[in-house]
Amino acid sequence: MSNPSLLILAGDGIGPEVMTEVKRVIEWFGTKRDLAFDVEEDLVGGAAYDKHGTPLHDDTMAKALKVDAVLLGAVGGPKYDALDFSVKPERGLLRLRKEMDLFSNLRPAQCFDALADFSSLKKDIVAGLDIMIVRELTSGVYFGEPRGIFEEGNERVGINTQRYTESEIDRVARSAFELARRRGNKVCSMEKANVMESGILWREVVQKVRDTDYPDVELSHMYADNGAMQLVRAPKQFDVIVTDNLFGDILSDCAAMLTGSLGMLPSASLGAPNADGRPKALYEPVHGSAPDIAGQGKANPIACILSFAMALRYSFDQGDEAARLEAAIEKVLADGVRTADLLGEEGVTPVSTTGMGDAILAALD
Ligand code: NAI
Ligand code: MG
Repeated sequence: MSNPSLLILAGDGIGPEVMTEVKRVIEWFGTKRDLAFDVEEDLVGGAAYDKHGTPLHDDTMAKALKVDAVLLGAVGGPKYDALDFSVKPERGLLRLRKEMDLFSNLRPAQCFDALADFSSLKKDIVAGLDIMIVRELTSGVYFGEPRGIFEEGNERVGINTQRYTESEIDRVARSAFELARRRGNKVCSMEKANVMESGILWREVVQKVRDTDYPDVELSHMYADNGAMQLVRAPKQFDVIVTDNLFGDILSDCAAMLTGSLGMLPSASLGAPNADGRPKALYEPVHGSAPDIAGQGKANPIACILSFAMALRYSFDQGDEAARLEAAIEKVLADGVRTADLLGEEGVTPVSTTGMGDAILAALD
């Protein structure tokens, strides 16, 4: 049997810096855990534009559609700000999302005990937190028609349309229930069924998917505004939250900040299953290319390494190995190893990007 395949697209700014550490981690699993990957690397974003005049070459797109998972660093930077919209670095990422049809966006909010002081909430509210927000990513009000700014009488009107088909709701709900089975077996679905028809349909379809195919998973429904309150009041009540594109955008950013630094936050986007039943998948840190610290060896590689841990768990069925990697990161943080973005108390000298990678590899050993 051939090894599982990974396409690495490091991108711009700190993307290649953090990805260097991820590649060391991937090699570690190959040599120490007998878990080898066929890794291919290519360009995306500004790096691809510099070489090919396009932020994503067709050959790269074709590779992304073939591999078992794509691992992306970050795209963009001031050098590319003046470029025409059609070739901006972000377009490379958007094309990947669109052609891979990545409709299910996974945003975990996980609090490492050693960093619980970083949260704006009280320590006991966030210590040990581990929730997953599943955001529908390819439909809803960001895409619905009609949209635009129109003349109406003697003034203008701005219009966006929240629109969801049953099949769009069905597939993201399935994705959430599948995840829940690998976690705490509990899903909370959030919408505004009290004031939105799309919310009524959302609630109906999610319930039906659960009753038909996931009766073993506990399902609750919550209005999204209450959900926002509950997320900051008692976030540990949740395991998996599934919600639409707009509410998911807001709720996932809110949940992310429960746990502190941008340099710690991984994400995944999943699409329809391939022939072998694995969903198409793209894993990436939540942060961008951080031009303010790029090239200085200061970037925290943990968000990108945790994105690889998500790949282990959700693309490769290696939940134990993912937990091994997360435990190594937990240990390093508990030992007080910090990149510059994680400095809270006085008197701690930050480690470099490579230094953090070294510490994680040592903890894995
Ligand atoms: P950003 O996430 O790149 O940076 C925001 C702040 O967080 C900066 O001060 C940065 O130094 C810090 N930061 C981010 N990641 C860090 C890490 N791993 N370790 C330590 N500190 C970290 O967002 P910003 O500044 O708004 O955007 C910069 C560029 O990145 C823009 O060109 C933007 O379009 C692009 N971007 C790309 C994304 C992607 O590739 N998915 C997502 C967000 C922004
Ligand atoms: Mg957002």
